[in-house]
Amino acid sequence: MEKYGSLEWKEVITPAIELAEKGFKLNKRRADSFNRLKKRFERGTEEFFRIFSKPDGSQFKEGDIFIQKDLAGSLRMIAEDGSQAFYKGQIAEFIAQDMKKHGGLVTKEDLGKYQAFVRKPVTGTYQGYHIISMPPPSSGGTILIEMLNILEGFDLGQRQRYAPETLHLIAETMKFAYLDRAQYMGDSDFSEIPVELLTSKSHAEDIRGKIDLIKATPSTIMGEEILTIEKAKETTHFSVIDNEGVAVATTYTLNGGYGSGVVAEGTGILLNNEMDDFNMKPGYTDDKGLIGTRPNLIEPHKRMLSSMTPTIITKDGQVYMITGSPGGRTIINTVLNVVINVIGFKMPIQDAVNAPRMNHEWMPDSLRLEREGIPEESIESLIAMGHKIRESSRWRQGDAHSILIDPKTGLYYGAADKRSRGSAIGY
Ligand code: DON
Repeated sequence: MEKYGSLEWKEVITPAIELAEKGFKLNKRRADSFNRLKKRFERGTEEFFRIFSKPDGSQFKEGDIFIQKDLAGSLRMIAEDGSQAFYKGQIAEFIAQDMKKHGGLVTKEDLGKYQAFVRKPVTGTYQGYHIISMPPPSSGGTILIEMLNILEGFDLGQRQRYAPETLHLIAETMKFAYLDRAQYMGDSDFSEIPVELLTSKSHAEDIRGKIDLIKATPSTIMGEEILTIEKAKETTHFSVIDNEGVAVATTYTLNGGYGSGVVAEGTGILLNNEMDDFNMKPGYTDDKGLIGTRPNLIEPHKRMLSSMTPTIITKDGQVYMITGSPGGRTIINTVLNVVINVIGFKMPIQDAVNAPRMNHEWMPDSLRLEREGIPEESIESLIAMGHKIRESSRWRQGDAHSILIDPKTGLYYGAADKRSRGSAIGY
């Protein structure tokens, strides 16, 4: 922000300080969510419950004003002293003390050594558009570009969006790409990640050659060599563009809803449960989706493998689209759905965002579909092709707030995802 932004650092943080200090009105969904926390977080800390419950023990209601004084204090320190306040100053002190109190491992020294890196994005092309997205330690950009490369060879524009053959090709593309994710991806500061190979057109061609056009290949057969058989949510994505065309795609994550259920005393800041994004059991990869491959095993100072896929797409050097989503491993597939809807299937941005999505992560070998809007016959055909459809009428995938810039008129079209409460706003 300090490096690329056109506004003063303090000015950007001020609205957040005001929201924390003066509070905001809870909507019903948020009030209900707060009221469920006692049940969800057996190991939530006292400070967590002090903040996310009412002093008299009563329930939150829609319209209640939620104030976070400590958080406002922390944000003010960050507004004054920048990231130093968090990693080296008073906030670091508070976090370290809280860690000590609860048997946590993070020290003030660890925080002081932490460094955020500016990395070169991963890039590719899809039908003449230039794709710019998140590099390792996220798998997002790499796997998105791999899937777009595979699908480019199947000419989606000639196909019907929800015909069984189309859905089949997309599902098989997801499976092969997610197998590569499991096999090869992790923190590039710790092992060689073959990003160039995975995002190459020739790798996509190899994979197209492996896709059976009429039959689903079981995931177990595809990933035989790594199988050793026998995951709550809190990520936010927003897309922004200013009047000069400076575009930002931001995805940030606490991982699970309310992170670890721990607020470092004095800070008002929720601590994440990001360790969950590492591969937990070395060498153990199963058909339930547990992955134990080497590149993403836990090591000191290593960053866990993310799926965040904040993406900017340009055409002829001009920003064309900005997108991204929350949703853990489903994120990459959500972004894929939106991008192919716009570029492959020529849908207007709002329709592309709202259209039913699908998700396959190689393992578990199950295809999830947002069923409303997908013809029943297509689903029956997919089952006949061998796809294992995971039934859930409530499956809602992602929250892909996106912007499209009409290259002819230069107009900005903001599309909030119908699945959640966001909105598209112009100033
Ligand atoms: O970085 C990641 O991929 C995960 N920590 C994201 C988790 C997530 O999206 C949960 N929210 N919906």
